[in-house]
Amino acid sequence: MVDYEKFYSKLGKTFQPGVITTVVLAAFELAKQGKKIISMTGGLYDVPSMPVAETKLIFNDAPPEAWAEMLQYGSTVGMPKLREELAKFMAEADIDADPGKEIIVTTGSQEAIDLVTRVFVDKGDLLVIGRPTYLSALSAFKQMSPEFLEVPIDADGMEVDALEADLKKLKEKGRAVKLLYVIPSFQNPTSTKLPTERRKRILELAEEHDFLIFEDNPYGYISFEGPMPTPLAGMDKSGRVMYTSTFSKIVSPGMRIGWLTAPQELIAKMSEAKSRISICNDGLSQYIAAEMLRRGDVAKQIPKIIEVYKKKRDLMLETMEVSFPEGAEWNDPKGGLFLWVKMPEHVDTTELLMDAVKRGVAYIPGSNFFSGPVHNYIRLNYSLPAEDDIVEGIQTLGSLLKEQV
Ligand SMILES: Cc1ncc(COP(=O)(O)O)c(C=O)c1O
Repeated sequence: MVDYEKFYSKLGKTFQPGVITTVVLAAFELAKQGKKIISMTGGLYDVPSMPVAETKLIFNDAPPEAWAEMLQYGSTVGMPKLREELAKFMAEADIDADPGKEIIVTTGSQEAIDLVTRVFVDKGDLLVIGRPTYLSALSAFKQMSPEFLEVPIDADGMEVDALEADLKKLKEKGRAVKLLYVIPSFQNPTSTKLPTERRKRILELAEEHDFLIFEDNPYGYISFEGPMPTPLAGMDKSGRVMYTSTFSKIVSPGMRIGWLTAPQELIAKMSEAKSRISICNDGLSQYIAAEMLRRGDVAKQIPKIIEVYKKKRDLMLETMEVSFPEGAEWNDPKGGLFLWVKMPEHVDTTELLMDAVKRGVAYIPGSNFFSGPVHNYIRLNYSLPAEDDIVEGIQTLGSLLKEQV
């Protein structure tokens, strides 16, 4: 037997199976025994709504020169035709990006998060994050061992007054923040929406205290009431915002199409970093993505998926109302894919997870979204489960939670 442990790098040693892997493996084992697990875990796409016919049509229509482009190595920053379409797509959200110099196509927004981490984050750097925040951004940043300034998330997202007060205190101590990570629209996991005033204030604070902003916007397009709120990148006048978005929530997560826009100098750095990870994105996906944008398929897909998710959100909320115990509190999301549930302090939702899985339902314990120990929250996803499963899953979870309070 080889003792692999001694060969791991310091970073390699930190790669331990997280809760999602554990739950997936447990669910897999139970499925082998013929048991059904209703997953309310990841932000997966509603399967019946996937744009299958559109994808097939685009492949069927592709001329020979398109196949040559699809099956060949491409530019690290992405297919030119896709970058042009993405620039137009972002322009609709008031974001002005030069497709030649200011956009890089990434393997989902997750790669954009990794690129930003590699290019900007050193050990001990101070990063501002929401409390709670997206678990896989947290783990990407943690690879470099930064310090976190966690700003509470209230019903309107990041508490900007608290941020301002903390920044003042830090300044007095001679400490500077390097980067602020924010998911302003339908934040993961709380689904909160940051009001315009707070967005502006964050931009002002970035100027005043000289830090960069990394805006992650996968959910802004899934808005149940009114248009997508203007991203910070659409309000930025000074080149402090790096912005990422993705096809994962609006078209398909399997295509792995994300993108990042930032000032030219920063995109050049990201491109160097990406060239060492993956050389370039997959050509087949990029071609499909560009054509879907050009043909208007994306514009048609967004309202379609909003309608499906809104209905599922309503059904989940209605079922929770009758099935969850007193003492449980949750939000009413106006967009995005998740419900955020607060249980009384003594309920440890991480410990409870295996019991839930054994009863046939899985969720993400809230502890994963905090950098410190907080155990009484649950994130529930409503985009993936079928309507019947939402009812059954919430009833099952409700009866388990009732036993805890
Ligand atoms: C806030 C946030 N950022 C980024 C991602 C990564 O998405 P992808 O890599 O599929 O684009 C997710 C996925 O759930 C997310 O919730």
